Amino acid sequence: MAVTDRWPELLEAVREDDSLLCPPIKPHTLHKLTFLHRYIDITTTAMVGNPHWPGGVAYLDLFCGPGIGVTKSGTRVPGSPLIAGMSKKPMSAIVCCDLDEERAEACKRRLDRLANSKTSSVLHGDSVQLVERLVSKVPTGALTIALIDPFKLELIQFDVFRTIASRCRADLIFLFADSMDLNRHYQQYIQPGNRIDRMLGDGEWRSSFDELDTHAEEVLCGFFRSHLEDRLRRELDYQFFGQRAIGTGNRRYYTLMFASKSERGFDFWHKACAKDADGQQELF
Ligand SMILES: C[S@@+](CC[C@H](N)C(=O)[O-])C[C@H]1O[C@@H](n2cnc3c(N)ncnc32)[C@H](O)[C@@H]1O
Repeated sequence: MAVTDRWPELLEAVREDDSLLCPPIKPHTLHKLTFLHRYIDITTTAMVGNPHWPGGVAYLDLFCGPGIGVTKSGTRVPGSPLIAGMSKKPMSAIVCCDLDEERAEACKRRLDRLANSKTSSVLHGDSVQLVERLVSKVPTGALTIALIDPFKLELIQFDVFRTIASRCRADLIFLFADSMDLNRHYQQYIQPGNRIDRMLGDGEWRSSFDELDTHAEEVLCGFFRSHLEDRLRRELDYQFFGQRAIGTGNRRYYTLMFASKSERGFDFWHKACAKDADGQQELF
């Protein structure tokens, strides 16, 4: 798969069985990882060593997983923390967290084997509870890439964004679980005081939601995605946004959302998304 020149190199680095947890991954997860890999390579290549960022480029992964997964055809693929750990130019810090002990431990042991292992730390626990501790490990003066990649939308809470943005100059990549989660469970999600309120910070969205003519999937999910962007813009001063649909065929499973305070960050994201997951130029 021609993703970037280095993708085969990364696959080769994780090819051998290391006897640690290696869960199956779906084709759409592979798409997500290839975009993340491109974005990280483009950003670290341009920004590591840039005097504007004396703390280097740091990586924060709140839902890190075990670090390697396996496709249906048996190819072992690096997960998000190892993609960061094997970036072209090294990150100044890699800070990860997973609720599952075995996943956190596998991630830690795999990061420990990499050349720049001294810069990595993995916490085991609920990242929503631990977010203060996680951000405290990011070096001062770093440009931070923060990945927030939960299976469920309810784990995206506005306060987590607030904590990250108040302590780090972070570009955010977060998984918005459209048809995987929101569309299936939206009746529960929109109960007063429920998950959407936590995701958006309060229930201000309700008055415009009541004006929607339909709750068809694209309308419903598009509504909450744009509300979340609006909130990040108004409350945390994010100014540049990107969205990348992830799915197979015409089916959108989820959206990778991107937010930055800098046009340059957006430019990196745009370049990372300019090709599809197979490395072909996108036709837009
Ligand atoms: C989609 S997977 C992450 C995959 C990983 N980012 C990657 O791309 O390789 C989601 C992970 O979140 C973890 N998780 C679920 N709830 C969590 C929580 N509250 N805090 C931290 N991790 C959590 C799960 O154990 C799982 O490993």
